[in-house]
Amino acid sequence: MGNRSEVLPVYQVYKQSQPTHKPGRIARAVLLILACVVLPASAVSCARQQQPGDTRDRSTIKIGYFGDLSGPTFNFGQSAKNGVLMAVEEVNQAGGINGRKIDIVIEDDEGSPELAATVVNKLTRQDKVIALIAGGASGSSLAAGPNAQSAKVPMISPSSTNPAVTQIGDYIFRACFVDPFQGEVMAKFSYNSLQAKTAAIMLDFNSPYSRDLTEFFELSFTKLGGRVISKQSYSQGDLDFKGQLSSISSAKPDVIYLPGYYGDIAVIAKQARQLGITQPLLGGDGWDAPELWQLAGDSINGSYISNHYSADDPSPAIQKFVHDYKLHWGNLTPDAHAALAYDAMRFLVEAIQRAGTTEVEKLRDALAQTKDFSGVTGIISMDSERNAVKPAVILKLQDGRYIYQETIHPEAPDSAAKASPSASPSKSRKK
Ligand code: PHE
Repeated sequence: MGNRSEVLPVYQVYKQSQPTHKPGRIARAVLLILACVVLPASAVSCARQQQPGDTRDRSTIKIGYFGDLSGPTFNFGQSAKNGVLMAVEEVNQAGGINGRKIDIVIEDDEGSPELAATVVNKLTRQDKVIALIAGGASGSSLAAGPNAQSAKVPMISPSSTNPAVTQIGDYIFRACFVDPFQGEVMAKFSYNSLQAKTAAIMLDFNSPYSRDLTEFFELSFTKLGGRVISKQSYSQGDLDFKGQLSSISSAKPDVIYLPGYYGDIAVIAKQARQLGITQPLLGGDGWDAPELWQLAGDSINGSYISNHYSADDPSPAIQKFVHDYKLHWGNLTPDAHAALAYDAMRFLVEAIQRAGTTEVEKLRDALAQTKDFSGVTGIISMDSERNAVKPAVILKLQDGRYIYQETIHPEAPDSAAKASPSASPSKSRKK
């Protein structure tokens, strides 16, 4: 495990992965120095040294991060790591949490749920982190969550959308919406906006994420009056999808729903186009990775996905995040994983500040009480099952870009609770 583990003060981890040209950091450093000189000491905490008589705890706060940094969905882990590190650097540069700096301990789960469970044991028992920002894919969170729960270390998944993740226990939280909502969002978009009456679905049968999205898409699409006329399955890493795609092609559906991860989707999309399939391909957040374009080329043009945010959104908060992230990470556009991980880290920091302690039970309670936290991906409030209730966006894929189409909001908690245990979408609006 030694090679996978990085136990470094955050600035060292950061330095290793930084582009060499960093105007943003320099500009921020100059601003910070100016702030220290110009503003009164009470307004800006510039003091790095403990003053005589100051008994406040100045030890670092250790937080764990794990994700797929080198496996089949490595884009997910790398993006989330970037988001986490950027949030940590901002917090540390502003003086830390109640005067304490954050140290981040990073592990690679290689996209393997078993390894994710192992690294959680290492992070909680050996490194003694006080909280975890992880995991990415739902399969990893489902495997690793029970270890975080039994160690009583709060785990905030930035992006795992499978409903069962937070049902593991009261130490497991998430910063994103859940798949019953995500499946319904795409069913409504297909039926109402694309006017699709029939759909085919091809799912990754080993993935809880893919299985549940299939179920919830089908449920909603059928309820609206649509019909699922062909259902095929595959397993992550398969290379030949032509048999399933031929069956789908002969069923002549209006749309094809592919609730999988970007690596498989690229191969499926290419083979679909080779077979002459021209219908729109539809997916979920699992498609969102810069790597998708390199792997799939123009075979995914004209597809639509549901996602957590759009980097094109003109809102000042999103544009500031996109601008800062590009400066940090060599002009990369932040995907949903990066934005969600940034939000998850910021909302953990806010909960620690509110709790005034890292003591586990108080921190768990503060996290559960999170209300109206203003994140890049939306307003985060925890519901009673520790899920964030937030809107989703629909994006169109065209020539290397994810083009914003519309936002779909969950129903108000009261009416949603009556209709279904998860929040269901109520209305959409075009910007
Ligand atoms: N929601 C996916 C899952 O639960 C992970 C994911 C989130 C992928 C965001 C991409 C972007 O497995």
